[in-house]
Amino acid sequence: MGAKLRFALIGCGDFGAGFGRRALAVADIVALCDPILERAEAAAKQLGVGAPTYADYRDLLAQEELDAVLITAANFVHAEITVAAAEAGAHVYCEKAMAPTVAACWEMVRACQRNNVKLMIGHKRRLRPPWARMIELTDDDLLGKPLSITVAEYMDMRPYNMYETWWADPELSGGPLAWLGVHVIDWFGAMCGPASRVWGMYGLQNDSRWPTPDVINATFEFKSGALASLNGSSLFPLHTFRQAQGPIGQCEHGGFKLIPEMEYIDLYWQRDDEAQPHHERFDDLGFDHAFRLEISDFARWILEDRPPCLTWVEGLRCVEMMEAVYRSAEKGGLPVDLPLYPELEQPSKL
Ligand SMILES: NC(=O)c1ccc[n+]([C@@H]2O[C@H](COP(=O)([O-])OP(=O)(O)OC[C@H]3O[C@@H](n4cnc5c(N)ncnc54)[C@H](O)[C@@H]3O)[C@@H](O)[C@H]2O)c1
Repeated sequence: MGAKLRFALIGCGDFGAGFGRRALAVADIVALCDPILERAEAAAKQLGVGAPTYADYRDLLAQEELDAVLITAANFVHAEITVAAAEAGAHVYCEKAMAPTVAACWEMVRACQRNNVKLMIGHKRRLRPPWARMIELTDDDLLGKPLSITVAEYMDMRPYNMYETWWADPELSGGPLAWLGVHVIDWFGAMCGPASRVWGMYGLQNDSRWPTPDVINATFEFKSGALASLNGSSLFPLHTFRQAQGPIGQCEHGGFKLIPEMEYIDLYWQRDDEAQPHHERFDDLGFDHAFRLEISDFARWILEDRPPCLTWVEGLRCVEMMEAVYRSAEKGGLPVDLPLYPELEQPSKL
């Protein structure tokens, strides 16, 4: 391994170059890839790197000497690129959602384990300071463990115009929770620990342009006994994506609520033995902090084998919780127990 890590950026759509810019703090971007080659070329220019560009990740993996790949491509290619990169001996950072199905997530995990490479899934939400602060509040000296959390994920998705893209096809994206819930569902896990049972219901269609249900209710029960629920809707004119998703939570010794606005975030919390709530304002929404934390941890994980803030576990459990919601909703809301695929959890399948 050379002095500076050698990363390839695979997937240069809306998100790729911005993430690549953060990665430059810890590594050189030595190659870029997107089947729409102009996107890879534009990203290279934006990043100011004179690296070669490829339309096919297999050519890139065959020709470049890499320490790791950063997969910022569409969800439906995360698994195949991860498996190929692992077979080529490259560590893998992959964006959330890990893959459209739990089975595909396990293929990624097994390929990385077989080839002894690291696999991190980029669930940044839990790392953004306002969201990380709510996790801190569950300390017994503050609010104590969560009992019940509610999130209204009501937002106006019309400006994103995703109706005719891969996002709208559940086989490609992993279903509507891939855009209407993935961040919050991962954060539920960070707050409450492993989930044990899931209930889901589809409501009446709100925006008929979506080919999938766009009104969803989901409830998760955790091994700790905590409950968390998420109600999602894609056509709520009062909230942008950024303003939706503010949780309200009841804990053992008090409660909290988070109010996200476009330019700042307010967090209120109060113990039941206090007369007034605490108010914490976050003028920095914390995106940069979260991106830098995960990419620097990824680099240290590779270089020093230091335990990182995220691995593949969070990614897989999040996809499992989403798949369980769909399974329950398709059965009219019957409970679904986790793990969804106990047979895939067996080490004997390695
Ligand atoms: N963590 C976050 O906050 C965050 C935010 C936005 C997007 N994302 C994730 O980033 C990923 C990309 O999202 P986006 O908004 O940029 O989507 P996008 O549709 O704008 O870009 C996806 C890109 O992947 C490319 N692609 C498709 N097949 C490919 C292949 N075989 N090899 C290489 N590239 C391929 C497409 O050509 C496209 O350019 C998604 O997984 C998304 O969930 C994460």
